Amino acid sequence: MLAIIGGTGLTRLSTLAVRHREVIRTPYGEPSAALVFGELAGYRALFLARHGHGHTIPPHRVNYRANLWALKEQGASAVLAVASVGGIRDAIPGDLVLPHQLIDYTSGRAHTFFDGGDQQVVHIDFTHPYSQRLRAVCLAGAKRGRIALRDGGVYGAVCGPRLETAAEIDRMDRDGATLVGMTGMPEAGLARELGIDYASVCVVVNHAAGRGDSTAHVSMEQIANVLESAMDKVRTLIQHVVPLVPGEPRARTQPVSAVTSESAVDDP
Ligand code: HPA
Repeated sequence: MLAIIGGTGLTRLSTLAVRHREVIRTPYGEPSAALVFGELAGYRALFLARHGHGHTIPPHRVNYRANLWALKEQGASAVLAVASVGGIRDAIPGDLVLPHQLIDYTSGRAHTFFDGGDQQVVHIDFTHPYSQRLRAVCLAGAKRGRIALRDGGVYGAVCGPRLETAAEIDRMDRDGATLVGMTGMPEAGLARELGIDYASVCVVVNHAAGRGDSTAHVSMEQIANVLESAMDKVRTLIQHVVPLVPGEPRARTQPVSAVTSESAVDDP
């Protein structure tokens, strides 16, 4: 089953017909929010708000391990992570980008399930951090939905919550990062450790610090405006991606009146 992790601007998925919500406990604590079980485009799907339903959990405080563990335990075999990012190069505000690589600049986050103790030492392959299969499905879904989705980008994951200095962005650019965001790691690594197919749809909400119209400063107002308009494209994209995910279980047919739209459901 496909799980969607919604980031800033996507704490609810209005296209998800909600069946039920469940607070899941994991050996790593509680996920960011109750998992939302429902249907997207007639297929069973899961939704999790990365920053909590009220958008109160900053990127460095997200319990990434609990989030991924809960999704896996509840049957997610693939995760499509929606994330807002700054554009360093080849990306301008409003663009949707499907990165193919990442560089991890984060530190101090609980970033692995293989944490020693009485476990064997485990190393995972992470040469290609995003699932090639799920990326291909996203690109096909974008084509069907006529949504412009840039194929490829290098996601630089930073701690935040502050934005970067212009010099930090210059360094990331020299490193080869084309996007900068605060949540891509350890999320992608943990998904790989659990054997979950993981891809990320990045919504470019601003030029990164020192670039384009962020030369003097990064405008929070612009970020809010771009987020709002871009998320409609993300919802449409997801609708077209879900039916293409291999092995997606078709939902039981039930009268539409038996389900509620996510947007109509109050926070728990
Ligand atoms: N930097 C880091 N994370 C972000 C940015 C940014 O400019 N924009 C959105 N998320």
